[in-house]
Amino acid sequence: MILKRCVLWILICFMFWLINIPSLAQTAERYKINKGWRFERFETSPDDIQYDVRPEVTDRNDNIVADSKPTESVSIKSSNHTLKAWILPTANNFIKDASKHYLKPTVEPVVTTPLIDKNFDDSHWQYVNLPHDWAIKLPFYKGENVPVGGGMGRLPVQGIGWYRKKLRFEAQDAQKKIYLDIDGAMSYSMVWLNGKLVGGWPYGYNSYRLDLTPYIQFGQENQLAIRIDNPTNSARWYPGGGIYRNIWIAKVNPVHIAHWGTFVKTPSVSAKKANIDISVLLKNESSQNQSVELITEIYLLDKNAQKLLKKVATSSKKEIVLEANQQAKVQQEVSLINPVLWYPLPTTNQQLYLAKTTVFQNSKSIEIYDTKFGIRSVKFDSNKGLLVNGKSVKIQGVNQHHDLGALGAAFNVRAAERQLEILRELGCNAIRMSHNPPAEELLDLTDRMGFLVIDEVFDSWERKKTPLDFHLIFPEWHEPDTRSFIRRDKNHPSVIAWSIGNEVGEQYTEEAGAKIAQKLYEIAKDEDDTRPITASMNYAKPQMPFPKVFDIISLNYQGEGIRDAPAYAHLKGIRTSPLYPAFQKQFPDKLILSSETASALSTRGTYIFPVAKENSAPVSEGVGGNGTTQQVSGYELYTAAFGASPDKVFSSQDKHPFVAGEFVWTGWDYIGEPTPYYSARSSYSGIIDLAGFKKDRYYLYQARWRPELKFAHILPHWNWPERVGQITPVHVFSSADEAELFLNGRSLGRKKKTAFEYRFRWDDVIYEAGKLEVITYKNAKEWARDVVRTTGIPTKLKLNVDRKQINNKGDDLAFVELSVLDAQGNMVPTANQEVEFEVLGNGELVATDNGDPADLNSFVLPKRKTYSGLALAIVKAKEGKKGSITVRATSKGLQSDEIIIQSVEF
Ligand code: GAL
Repeated sequence: MILKRCVLWILICFMFWLINIPSLAQTAERYKINKGWRFERFETSPDDIQYDVRPEVTDRNDNIVADSKPTESVSIKSSNHTLKAWILPTANNFIKDASKHYLKPTVEPVVTTPLIDKNFDDSHWQYVNLPHDWAIKLPFYKGENVPVGGGMGRLPVQGIGWYRKKLRFEAQDAQKKIYLDIDGAMSYSMVWLNGKLVGGWPYGYNSYRLDLTPYIQFGQENQLAIRIDNPTNSARWYPGGGIYRNIWIAKVNPVHIAHWGTFVKTPSVSAKKANIDISVLLKNESSQNQSVELITEIYLLDKNAQKLLKKVATSSKKEIVLEANQQAKVQQEVSLINPVLWYPLPTTNQQLYLAKTTVFQNSKSIEIYDTKFGIRSVKFDSNKGLLVNGKSVKIQGVNQHHDLGALGAAFNVRAAERQLEILRELGCNAIRMSHNPPAEELLDLTDRMGFLVIDEVFDSWERKKTPLDFHLIFPEWHEPDTRSFIRRDKNHPSVIAWSIGNEVGEQYTEEAGAKIAQKLYEIAKDEDDTRPITASMNYAKPQMPFPKVFDIISLNYQGEGIRDAPAYAHLKGIRTSPLYPAFQKQFPDKLILSSETASALSTRGTYIFPVAKENSAPVSEGVGGNGTTQQVSGYELYTAAFGASPDKVFSSQDKHPFVAGEFVWTGWDYIGEPTPYYSARSSYSGIIDLAGFKKDRYYLYQARWRPELKFAHILPHWNWPERVGQITPVHVFSSADEAELFLNGRSLGRKKKTAFEYRFRWDDVIYEAGKLEVITYKNAKEWARDVVRTTGIPTKLKLNVDRKQINNKGDDLAFVELSVLDAQGNMVPTANQEVEFEVLGNGELVATDNGDPADLNSFVLPKRKTYSGLALAIVKAKEGKKGSITVRATSKGLQSDEIIIQSVEF
């Protein structure tokens, strides 16, 4: 009886506790308006609108070596017919000195286009949902002298795009402030509501907010019209085109917490106690003084950072009187006993918390504002490297561009998560967002998955890399863009440092360049005094004024030396010996890391002979490269002119243990910048190809980054009928220290890795068909084996999917990988077979790819050639439909395959 009562009481208490945990309130009135836009793209401008006059492009060069010296900006005179003066006031919230705020011109701009009008008939325009990249589904440009060359990815990103949508606001909304939040629009976006220009933001990578309130017609439909202007010759990679991230509507009271208005800092952290400082920026956009109260509660979140598990602390109540049309910062402090700390990978301890701030007026809650954060301490020690919560963490990082391969720039959470999953398996623990702010959801993923992040804002400042890049708007926008990028991202525990520039031309201009660096540094520090600020340097030397500015030293390629090995002796360009020691000597108190290393190049599963004897060589025709097939050898020894093989980088890092680690150029291949073959569409630098297939290099990094993982990986494949009797080197990647190779059962010798060696090489193997086997050893004990066989001819297809269930909300994706097999079930590594994908039932085919940088068949085609035996189909569920999706792959003369995926509601 007593027991029963006890159980009942426990149950009642539990229920009570459950009821008292509020749900995670997205401020109730912030919602996405991604669905149902009308869209049209124009190759030549359909209107009389221009942000500003642009210089004529006279120095177009698609295929410029990435480490060329950036040049001076071209000065242009603004004309009165541009809209710049009406757009600049959007920046005011991000310009500290109020005297420098832009006043909106008192007259309306002269805009005659009907495209902004409510009654313009857009019913014949395309119907699209956001996020949307207008270029990704279009055909690639082929050949020379095309509007968009290899550098920007050969896709039609250029042109003017108009997006229109009707929005209804009810009469009761008239009491509110109503904002439009644009997460990212590429580029020069300008927004009209009911024919009136509201504002805009030229830089395509930053998120921004506009106040729609004065333009809204309440109780009626309103016409939103957004113009995008994306110039070619404006980037060194594929930018995508259009509104490629979310758009939101936020409705708040005139007294509210400002956009990105909370900052949660954890100034002291230990396993026993954490002090949490919360600063809240409150705005009073009414014409009366307002008195409000503020409370912040701290909750522990579940693994997915979605549900509140329990309340762990509450701040004291703060009262404040806000003057009419003024804003004020409120500070709150709480401390937490036994906090659960946020740790990076490889641990699984990525605990996140939620600061739930409630604003009360007359004892009534008028706003709840949620801020997710993590509790961790990060120290940047010049000798020990990075210390997270006091523990040393070697940076095993990669650079990532923002595109998602065949999906383009249109952000998709699942596609980004898949990229990170494959990187996590590699042993990667850090990402550098090269060279622009990411979609914010990517930082939610890095928070949850434990990747450390260097968040980066610019690739150029005043000096230019391409004729129409950011330098054109640097004078007016450097401060707003620097501030807005930090203000949005500052509560993400995964972000450990801000990078305000990549290889900028100001490295070359001595004091003048350093002065600009200093100005940007101070702006960034003013936004966030808790994280170090850096900029990546491929040219600045220790004695120059530029590096002095920064808190940490981020070197691109200079650490291991640029063009300094014998194989690079004939090349022109920047040449340096390894500079880690010189930087350390000059800056003994600053942490040094390599923000770009390697720039190693390869196409998956392709091998070119003869193979370089050196451990690193620049790719050229016949030396790792084949210009006809546009392939770079997968022996993973070949690099960009200024690059170094992974092996060379590893040895340099091991010789300089004070270096905090590296960010490899790059984790995944990306669209554009297809060095060395600019007739191709995508890069060669990834450890993983554009479709998500692992190159051989993957195993070289995995052996280093996950030394405890027992595996061995042989390359190349062993299908070389034309090489019988010829030298065909065999290399093995493994964390073992010894290995013995057997060809058809005969030993080809046992090898031991010597100091600063990272692969096993048998460079004199004479090819004969059959079986290659490696047995590896660590500390004299067998470690792992690998076998590669000469396969039979292609006979059948095999499909595999990353997840058998996907949700039917319209944004979830299944990644279906296809391999071509022989009769014994071995993947045929040379199969370049045309395959057709078909999706039946409740799904749709979104895109296909094969990871071949030179494949210029549009990503949307259901037919695709396998590349080195593999191809990929990306599939989604039809929105709202539940049930099976059948994916079928067929190829002439081969046995087809089918796979079933369930579309479910979760
Ligand atoms: C670097 C540059 C990167 C990329 C890379 C190519 O110099 O920072 O953005 O261009 O070279 O290997």
